[in-house]
Formats: sequence, structure tokens, C-alpha cells
Amino acid sequence: MQKKRLNKKDTVITWDEHWGKQKTVERLDEINTSYKEVVDYLLSVTDKNSKCIEIGCGSGVYSLEMMKEGRDCVASDISEKALELTEIKGKKFFGLKKVPTKIVDIYDICYKDNTFDLVFSDGVIEHLNIPRVIKEMKRVVKKGGYLITKVPSGNWLYRVVYNLTSPIEARPYEVWYKPNKWRELFKDAGFSDVKVEMCGSVVEGVLNRVIKNKGLKNAVPKIGKIYYLIKCKKN
Ligand SMILES: C[S@@+](CC[C@H](N)C(=O)[O-])C[C@H]1O[C@@H](n2cnc3c(N)ncnc32)[C@H](O)[C@@H]1O
Repeated sequence: MQKKRLNKKDTVITWDEHWGKQKTVERLDEINTSYKEVVDYLLSVTDKNSKCIEIGCGSGVYSLEMMKEGRDCVASDISEKALELTEIKGKKFFGLKKVPTKIVDIYDICYKDNTFDLVFSDGVIEHLNIPRVIKEMKRVVKKGGYLITKVPSGNWLYRVVYNLTSPIEARPYEVWYKPNKWRELFKDAGFSDVKVEMCGSVVEGVLNRVIKNKGLKNAVPKIGKIYYLIKCKKN
């Protein structure tokens, strides 16, 4: 059952409706290099033999990068339209012949215990029942594997961006916790070494869109970080 969300006219839409909108498809019709630091981290904890899954992949930003780098990765989401978009992008921008996708509900992940070397998500858990989803994601991580998730920091700059984009973009409810609260939630789920670091420069994100990533990626300053990257290893 898909969670309903509010759009700017206060009407209820589903994730399928969101990902199926022509406007969403057009807006994502590009590769945004501001995700690179997170992709680099995901690559650094895996190798070509690693089995990975992104849950709530939306348009597949991270999964596609991982597939391009030869990782055995599944792009998963509860929305069929999101997966259709991921497949289109994978073939069009990443030259992938095959884009493995799967419908997955993060509350009831359709894989056996200890399946993946890496489970990751961006922009998903803050909308949901967090203790339940951490427990379920942890279940499918192999011993020695990683659970990595990106969440909004809720810092002042994030709030500015949130308030500016909320009238344009439909947004479901989300929590803004401090690093200590995030650490506590992951420790309560049984992770011992939990790291919470800032990531995602808003300056880089905006400039990337303006200059369309054309050869200037290294000139863009990575200042004004507005997300947390939470990194945990399952022992
Ligand atoms: C805010 S979007 C983030 C999309 C993408 N990760 C990104 O960063 O662009 C949240 C995503 O989570 C998915 N989602 C929502 N509830 C879910 C659930 N119970 N299980 C799996 N995915 C879910 C939605 O379909 C949507 O694609």
C-alpha cells in the first residue's frame, strides 16, 4: 500500500503519481554530480563482488552510479513508476544494457536475512517509522556489511531550501533530528559504530543545475552542507 503525500494544492497524491508526472521526468533529465561524494563513499565500502541494494531509489541516482561502476546492485522502490524512470535513465544516461530493479516495501523487504553487503537509501527513512525501518534494513545486511542512509539535517540552510522548494515540490512529512538522536536510533537497533557526517553541498547542487555539469565540476565549492550521511557496519 503506497503512502499518500500532499502536493502544493493540498490534494493527496501517491509516489506513483509523483514519479509518473511529466514534470518530474523532465526535471530529472540530467545527471547531477553533487551526489558524487556519497557515491564515492558507497563505492569505497564495496567492490565488484559486493551485493548492494538501494531502497526508495526514486529516479535511481545512486543505484545507477553503482551499476555503472560494476557493482551488483538492485534499484528498489515501492513505486513502479520510479523504477520505470530508473530504467529509462540507466539506459539513456549511463549506457546500461540491464538495470536490475525490484518493487520493495522497506517495512517488509522481500529478501532473506543477511543478503546484502550494502543497503542504502536517501530521503526515505525520515518520512517513515524509523525504528521499524532500521530494524528491517539491518535484517538484510550481511555480517560485516554496511547500512548507509542520507537524511535531511534540518539545519538553518536546509530549512531555507525546504521552505523555498515546498510550494513547488510535493513533500511528505519528515523529521529533522540532531546527530545524537540519529546515533541513538541506530545504536538501539544494535549497531555499535555509528557515524553521522554532514554531506550534500547546496551551493554545489544549485551551481550544478545552472551550469549543467559541463566541465566545471571541480571548480564548484562544496560549501553549505545540508544533509547527514549515517554510516553503520553490522558486526
Ligand atoms: C523523497 S523520495 C527519495 C527518492 C530518491 N532516493 C532520491 O534521493 O531522489 C522517497 C522515495 O521513497 C519511496 N518510498 C516511500 N515509501 C516507501 C516504502 N515503504 N518502501 C520503499 N520505498 C518507499 C518513494 O516511492 C520515493 O521514491
